[in-house]
Amino acid sequence: MKLSHRRWWLLANMLFVCGCGDKQLQEPEIDTSKSKAEFGYQTSAQTALLLEGKKAYEQYCVGCHGVNGDGKGEGSYALSPKPRDFVMAKFKFSSTRSGQLPTDEDLLRTITLGLRGSAMPSWNFVPEQTRIAMVQYIKTFSPKWKQFGEGARIPLYNDPYKQEADKTAAIERGRAAYHGFFRCWTCHPAYVEPAKISEYIATFGGAPAETYRPDLHLADIKATEAGESIFAPDFLRDFVRAGSTIPDLYRSIAAGITGTAMPTWVDIMDSPPTDAAGKPLVQPADLWAMSYYVQDLIKQRPARLAAGKVAVRPLREITFKMGGAEYVAKVPQLDSAEEEE
Ligand code: HEC
Ligand code: HEC
Repeated sequence: MKLSHRRWWLLANMLFVCGCGDKQLQEPEIDTSKSKAEFGYQTSAQTALLLEGKKAYEQYCVGCHGVNGDGKGEGSYALSPKPRDFVMAKFKFSSTRSGQLPTDEDLLRTITLGLRGSAMPSWNFVPEQTRIAMVQYIKTFSPKWKQFGEGARIPLYNDPYKQEADKTAAIERGRAAYHGFFRCWTCHPAYVEPAKISEYIATFGGAPAETYRPDLHLADIKATEAGESIFAPDFLRDFVRAGSTIPDLYRSIAAGITGTAMPTWVDIMDSPPTDAAGKPLVQPADLWAMSYYVQDLIKQRPARLAAGKVAVRPLREITFKMGGAEYVAKVPQLDSAEEEE
C-alpha cells in the first residue's frame, strides 16, 4: 500500500484515543440491563463472549471499521482498499465460494494474520479468546448471518505434489494451466510471451487467441462491487493479502474472492471439459499446481526499495470530515498497485 501500515495504524489509534468522533457507542443486541444478582440472572456464556468482543472491537477496530461496523471509521477516508463494511457483510477472503459468508475460522485467520498490502493489521498479539469474541461480535452487525449462516467450505482436494521434494513438475504444470487453460492473464499479468501462451492453449485443446490484451505483462485494473478500482496482483511485485503458503493460495484460487472479479475456480472440477477421447482437460491437482506456480512467482519478488531509497509519489488533495469540521489534506496517490512496506 501507499502509506505505511504504521502511519495509518497510529492515525487510527489517535483518532480513537482522542474520541474526536464523540459518537455514542452502539450496544450489541443483547439484554444486559439486569444485574447478575437480580432475580438470579446470570450472564450467559454467549452474552459474555459478545461483550468481550464488543469491548475489544471498540478498542482496536473502530478507527477503521467504524462503531457501527459500516467500514466508515474516522481513519478510513483515505484508505484503499477501504476497511470492510460488516453491515454489508461481503467478505473477500474465505474458504467458501465467492458470494457466500466466510467461516468463523476464516474470520479468525484474517484477524490473526491481517491482510498484507492493505491497512488491515495483524492482531496476533491479542489473546485468542478475545479474537474469537471479536469474530462473534462483528457478526452482530449484519442479519445475513442469521439468515444464511456461514457458507460451506470448498472441497479440499488431495495435493499430489505435497510429498515431492522437487516442485519443478508442479510449477511447470501450474504455469501451463495458468496461461493455457484458466487464462488467469485476462486480469493478472502473463508471465510468458504470447507465442508461448498460444502453445499452452493448444496443449489444452483450445484455439489460441489472435490478439492478446495490450499490456499483457501488467495487471489489469478491475472494479470491485463496491466501485473501488483494484488491481489483480502481479505476483512478481504485489503482496497477496490472504497468505502465500500453498494452502493459502489453494484457498484463494479455488474459492475465489467475493465482490471482486476473481471467480471461484473449484467448481469447474465437478464436470471439467474433456478432449476428443473423453479425458478431462483439467483436474483438481491443477489447482494445487497453480498454487505452486504462483508461490514460485512470489518467491522471485525482488526487494522493493534498496536500503536508503525513499519512494516519492504524486500527491492528491482530499477533503474529509472529522468531529464536525471539514479538513483538506494532501495524501499520496492511491491508484497504483505499488505497495510500500
Ligand atoms: C488501520 C485500519 C484497520 C484497522 C484498525 C482494522 N482493520 Fe480490518 N480491515 C481494514 C482494511 C483496509 C480491510 C480491507 C482489506 C482488503 O479489502 O483487502 C479490512 C478487512 C477486514 C476484514 C475482512 C476480511 C475479508 O475477508 O473480507 C475483517 C474480518 C476485519 N478487517 C476485521 C478487523 C478487526 C476485528 C479489527 C480490530 C481487531 C480490524 N479489522 C481492525 C483495515 C483495518
Ligand atoms: C476476472 C479477473 C480475474 C481472473 C480471471 C483471475 N483473477 Fe485472481 N484476482 C483478481 C482480482 C481483482 C484480485 C484481487 C482481489 C483483491 O485483492 O481484492 C485477485 C487476486 C488473486 C490472488 C491473491 C489473493 C490474495 O490473497 O490477495 C491470487 C493468488 C489469484 N488472484 C490467483 C489467480 C489465479 C491462479 C487465476 C487463474 C486461475 C486468477 N487469479 C484469475 C482477478 C482475477
